[in-house]
Amino acid sequence: EKIYIGVDVGGTTIKVGLCDPEGQLLHTYEGPTGVGLGTDVILKNIADYSRRIVEESPYAWDQVEGVGVGIAGFLDIPKGYIKFSANLYIENTDLKGYLEKELQKTVKVNNDANVAALGEAWAGAGKGIDNCVCYTLGTGVGGGIIIGGRIVEGFASMAGELGHINIVPDLEAIQCGCGKMGCLETVSSATGIIRMAKDAVARGDRTSLSEVEDIMAKDVVDAAKAGDEVAARIVSRAAYYLGRSMATVAILLNPQYFIIGGGVSKAGDFLFDQIREVFEKYTLDPAKEGVKIVPATLGNNAGVVGAAGLILRG
Ligand code: BGC
Ligand code: NA
Ligand code: ZN
Repeated sequence: EKIYIGVDVGGTTIKVGLCDPEGQLLHTYEGPTGVGLGTDVILKNIADYSRRIVEESPYAWDQVEGVGVGIAGFLDIPKGYIKFSANLYIENTDLKGYLEKELQKTVKVNNDANVAALGEAWAGAGKGIDNCVCYTLGTGVGGGIIIGGRIVEGFASMAGELGHINIVPDLEAIQCGCGKMGCLETVSSATGIIRMAKDAVARGDRTSLSEVEDIMAKDVVDAAKAGDEVAARIVSRAAYYLGRSMATVAILLNPQYFIIGGGVSKAGDFLFDQIREVFEKYTLDPAKEGVKIVPATLGNNAGVVGAAGLILRG
């Protein structure tokens, strides 16, 4: 039987999955990404973990049909080349070339959020839905556009970089990892939520968050749910800009589903209801009819399943 390797390269961990031809996950493996240790270490880890998962499994290396990789950042997707990844500190790197040489298999590289979107569209929340747009709310805000079951990549592989939609008004804007001011990611990522919380504490705002030393996005959401007004304002701001961006995306693409995944999406209805309200307010009525904003269902596995899908689904 043939097997397919999917690799999801995240800011802290590299997750690897082995899939069968139906996209069923047979086996997973994960290890540290090695961000901060240099590009060479990250590349080597991707290759090592890909070999190791097969060694650990009952399958043989000969059965591997190919390796799909999802990685954050601006890529040349057809070439499998990383132009710039702010969150992984990688630039101008031929990832596909390196892995093909190292592993002697077909390798396909795509953006992490595109791949997660493919996973969700194929086997998750978007199963059976033709057009969907996925947001992943984590270290950054990732985006993936799936139309007719395929990833929309665009002319220079930049389609679906939704985290860099310029949306925060200039007077309130701060700089994003991409260098521009006012990107969606600066307010709606976990990193953005944490930054706003730390700023509020530093300003001396009256909030229960001041007792938390290393504030996590979840702490902010929990405080907001418990009635902390400062925390609630931060979460609302994250939700507001997400909803506004979706109102625009609805007019560009009119997807049937907006699927939201990533750590921050665990906030659940508390977050989703606010996003829905803003979305409904700002988009055209006919562009929102029948349109749903739903949580991702594959959780941490969306990336590896979608990455294996790069090979499996051609
Ligand atoms: C990057 C995207 C990535 C997203 C989620 C953004 O900062 O530009 O390429 O998909 O973070 O990791
Ligand atoms: Na993307
Ligand atoms: Zn940006």
